[in-house]
Parts: sequence; structure tokens; C-alpha cells
Amino acid sequence: MEHFDKEELTVIRKFEHIEHCLTKQVEAHVSNAFENIYFVHQALPEIDKDEIDLSVEFLGHKLDYPIMIAGMTGGTKGSQIAGKINKTLAKAAQELNIAMGVGSQRAMIRKPETWESYYVRDVAPDIFLVGNLGAAQFVLGYGTDEALKAVETIQADALAIHMNPLQESVQPEGDTQYRGVLKALAELKSKFPYPIIAKETGAGVSMEVAIKLESIGIDAIDVGGLGGTSWSGVEYYRAKDERSKNLALKFWDWGIPTAISVAEVRYATDLPIIATGGMRDGIQIAKALALGANLAGIALPLLKPAAKGDVEGVVKILQRYIDELKNAMFLVGARNVEELRKVPLVIASFAREWLEQRIDLWEFLRERRRAIP
Ligand SMILES: Cc1cc2nc3c(=O)[nH]c(=O)nc-3n(C[C@H](O)[C@H](O)[C@H](O)COP(=O)(O)O)c2cc1C
Repeated sequence: MEHFDKEELTVIRKFEHIEHCLTKQVEAHVSNAFENIYFVHQALPEIDKDEIDLSVEFLGHKLDYPIMIAGMTGGTKGSQIAGKINKTLAKAAQELNIAMGVGSQRAMIRKPETWESYYVRDVAPDIFLVGNLGAAQFVLGYGTDEALKAVETIQADALAIHMNPLQESVQPEGDTQYRGVLKALAELKSKFPYPIIAKETGAGVSMEVAIKLESIGIDAIDVGGLGGTSWSGVEYYRAKDERSKNLALKFWDWGIPTAISVAEVRYATDLPIIATGGMRDGIQIAKALALGANLAGIALPLLKPAAKGDVEGVVKILQRYIDELKNAMFLVGARNVEELRKVPLVIASFAREWLEQRIDLWEFLRERRRAIP
């Protein structure tokens, strides 16, 4: 077998992730719980559909739609696929003036020559662009220098720090050293001049974690909840032996469903929230915003057209989300996202049972979800 050092393995691993996400069923078998959230249809909306304004401000940046293309890639080997994916996504983001993240820049920190696969400013000069590094790396020695390199090499506006203990825990080579992670992030935050978004990758953010992140000055939270791409699922396909396969399979559906995570984080903090994790239509986006999220993040559905370099294909999918979001807003009589937070919502079944045990649900529905950071 060829011998690779740890960083080379990171690059290969990222390529395998994309391959599995393109060719296999990698989503959770359980939902993100948005089917438990109901709008109350308004037969007299008292607005014109055409006057609906979907624009929002996020971390000081104006976006035409409350949508972010969630970070997926960069630095991979194999036919320049990462660069192609990022450039395609970025062109679509530029066309619609929405936000976009790149995938983990760990490969770029170690191998600076891979920087171009993350660089999209040539095709997307105006978008709100977010770099990406892993929280565990900051326990293992990363600091302000690496964070600055990640943001400034690609002229990003902010840095996402991904928290992915689930994925790391089910892969044999995973970085499972999380002791001291909050202190390391607090240290970074105290010196770092760009906004930091703490981002889960499919298992959700609890209110306990959200409160800790807010206490150290983190600027926003991407809840990255359960119900979409499962990283334990992806690792299942990469697992080489029965023992690893078993572990990945058992944790395939682990986590806090996205809708519930948004409610917990909004209840407990005033931070801007990105609702990512299984967002598969614009009605779900409308519900996420009504629960108090500021943006919705989408990854997997955009991967296939992006891997083909099909900008129009990516735009078409995003346009469908926008049409559905706008239609839902019309039917509840909301002219903008601020008004959407004030429409009545009914939380049923599993989401209600969960949230009643975790938060003051009535206070949340009447007051907290309306707090606009
Ligand atoms: C192919 C692929 C690669 C990803 N790589 C990263 C990554 O490097 N860093 C990160 O923070 N999240 C990464 N993610 C997670 C996404 O940003 C997102 O949180 C997750 O996929 C849930 O959204 P979805 O259900 O719409 O796919 C990746 C997702 C996919 C599909």
C-alpha cells in the first residue's frame, strides 16, 4: 500500500466523501422534524404576492434571499473536482446574491498550493463568503494564524468553525480530542478580526452548546441538524471492517433534528441562526425562518449539478426553493422575514413533546422566536 502522511489522507478522505455523497444514499432515515411545524393558513392574507421582499441582512451583509449554500469542498485530489464544485456554486450564489461557504480548509493550511480550489472571488466578487476550519484542529494547535490564512487567502467575510464530533467518533482516524475546545475557540475569538460562525454538520446544536458559544462571543450558529446528509452514513460507506461499519450504522440517525435545534438555539440565545440539515423545500425554509432562523443552508441537493459544472442547474434548484418560500409567505400573509416570525405556528407531535421538555414552549412561540438579532 502507498504510504500517505496524515494531511494527504485528509485530501483523499475529502474526495471519498464527495464520491459517496454523489453516488450513495447518505441522508438520515429520520426527518429534520419540520413536518411537526405547521403554519396556519390565512384565507385573507391581505398582501399582494408581488410585494413580498425576501431580502435579509446577515452579519452586516445584505442578501437578496435568506439562503446560504453550505460549505462542502476544497483541496481534493482527482480531476480538480473541488475547484469546479466551488466555482459553480459561487457563480450561482453571485447570480442570486446569497451566501456561500467553502468546505474545510485544513488541506489548504497544510498544502497551500491547493488554495485555488477554494478561491471563488474571481467569479463571485460580491457574495457573503465563509471560510471553514474544524473545531478539533484548534485543540490540536491551530490558532489565529491558521484562521487568518483560511479567511484571507480566499478573501472571505467570515470563518465557519465546524463541530463534527459525531463524524470524527465513527471514523477510525478521527480527531476525537475535544477537551479544551471551548477555551481554544474563546482564545481565537478574542484575537480574530472576522466574524466566527460555529457550525454543526448534521447532528444539531443544543441550547446548552449555544449558550456556551454565545458566552465566548461567537457571532452566529449554523445548527447543522439531523435529517439531511448524515456524516455517520458517509463514514459507513468508507468503513473497511465490520466493527467500524457497525459503529457508523448505529449512529447514522444520531442527533437533534434541524427544526428542534433551531427552536432550542433561538430560545436560548440572541445569535443569528443558519438552519441547515435536510432543507429540501422552500416550505421548510419558511418554517425555519418562522421559528427564528435568519438563513437556511443547503448542501447535498446542490452537489450533483455543481459537480457537473452546471451553474444553471444549481440556480434552478435554488429558484425552486425561493418560489416555494415566497408562496408559503403569501399564504400566511407575511411580506418579509420579520413578519414571518410573527405569524402563528403550531408545533405538534414529536417536536412538541421534545420542546415541552426542554423550553418554555409558549414563551418561545409568543416572544422568543420573534427576537431579531
Ligand atoms: C459533500 C459534502 C461535503 C461537506 N463538507 C463539509 C466540510 O468540509 N465542512 C463543513 O463544515 N461541512 C461540510 N459539509 C456539511 C454541510 O455543510 C451541511 O452542514 C450538511 O451537509 C447538511 O446539509 P444537507 O442536508 O443540505 O446536505 C459537507 C456536506 C457535503 C454534502
